[in-house]
Amino acid sequence: MVEKQTQIISIHPTRPEPHLIAQATAVIQAGGLVAFPTETVYGLGADALNDTAVQKIFTAKQRPAYDPIIAHINHIDQLDQLAINVPDSAALLAEKFWPGPLTFILPKAEHVPSRLTAGGPTVAVRCPSHPIARALIQAAQTPIGAPSANRFSHTSPTSAQHVWDDLNGRIELILDGGPAHIGVESTVLDLTQAVPTILRPGGITFEMLTAVLPHVRPHQPNPKKSQKEVQISPGLLERHYAPSTPLWLVTGHNQEIYQKIRQTVANHPDKKFGLMIANEDLAELQTTASQIGIVGSLNDLEEVASQLFQTMRQLETHPLDFILARSYPTQGIGAAIQDRLRRAADKVF
Ligand code: TXA
Ligand code: MG
Repeated sequence: MVEKQTQIISIHPTRPEPHLIAQATAVIQAGGLVAFPTETVYGLGADALNDTAVQKIFTAKQRPAYDPIIAHINHIDQLDQLAINVPDSAALLAEKFWPGPLTFILPKAEHVPSRLTAGGPTVAVRCPSHPIARALIQAAQTPIGAPSANRFSHTSPTSAQHVWDDLNGRIELILDGGPAHIGVESTVLDLTQAVPTILRPGGITFEMLTAVLPHVRPHQPNPKKSQKEVQISPGLLERHYAPSTPLWLVTGHNQEIYQKIRQTVANHPDKKFGLMIANEDLAELQTTASQIGIVGSLNDLEEVASQLFQTMRQLETHPLDFILARSYPTQGIGAAIQDRLRRAADKVF
């Protein structure tokens, strides 16, 4: 593709400067691409109702056309522009969790470009809480289609630098509003099924959803992704969110994890390993590997989520043969952490 001049501009994370929002809006309204921070990860935005602009997202990311894109709105009133037959549960959940990291799957309105929904009958909609995202959607006066702003299959970006590393020369503009705080993507909740079903665990946890809707079906982790699951949410491919260095996910209770890591390193004396572990593991494991990425404390899974992708990207800058990553408890945001690690992993043991 033709190289573009990618501009990166600093913008205030909570009080975005109106002239910078206007600059980004002009790009969106001209059918171009703007990467911007959300509270979860950075998104790669285009006018969701402009078919040609949406196509550019797929091209820039090298994303296959079968993987649909989330439309971002800044008020629930805009839902009717995108979806039909919206169930009462959507209003109930939106009242509690919007703006925020929750995406609904709903039957799509006819005029929504089928490219956005990958030809499917449903549309994904989310109302983000990040002030820059909100200001941009409001100024653009259109829903903004935005997947995570990474190359397809790579780790999602949590900083403007990550976006630059993946997409420099392929998009018009990056708004640098500092780190994306949650660090893992939104929860994707399918409201077209009789029982609302979590397709992707994320920032709004199963526990939080069930407090509002008693009958939510939790995400079903499936080590061997079934064809059916791929059809329901095509983005949920087996290897995804992955660093370029192969990652092995180590499971079990702490002592098992330590044992497995020591054994694996001992079994491959000619290989270079990096570790992705928690603070509490350091004393046990610091002599086993040359590169160690600490994601936070086992007692603070929010912190682990916020550092997860950043740590993967940091480790992949070193000349390593493998990254060994520990696993985490799956309560709360832990379900999203474990899901991303599992998808990033070549091997789970
Ligand atoms: O936090 C987030 O959701 C971020 C920020 C930028 O908002 N966005 C994001 O988008 O993670 P993306 O495209 O990287 O992931 C969207 C996921 C994909 O797995 C996609 O397959 C799924 O949502 N999805 C989108 N539309 C869908 C639909 N109509 N039905 C089922 N799954 C859908
Ligand atoms: Mg993504």
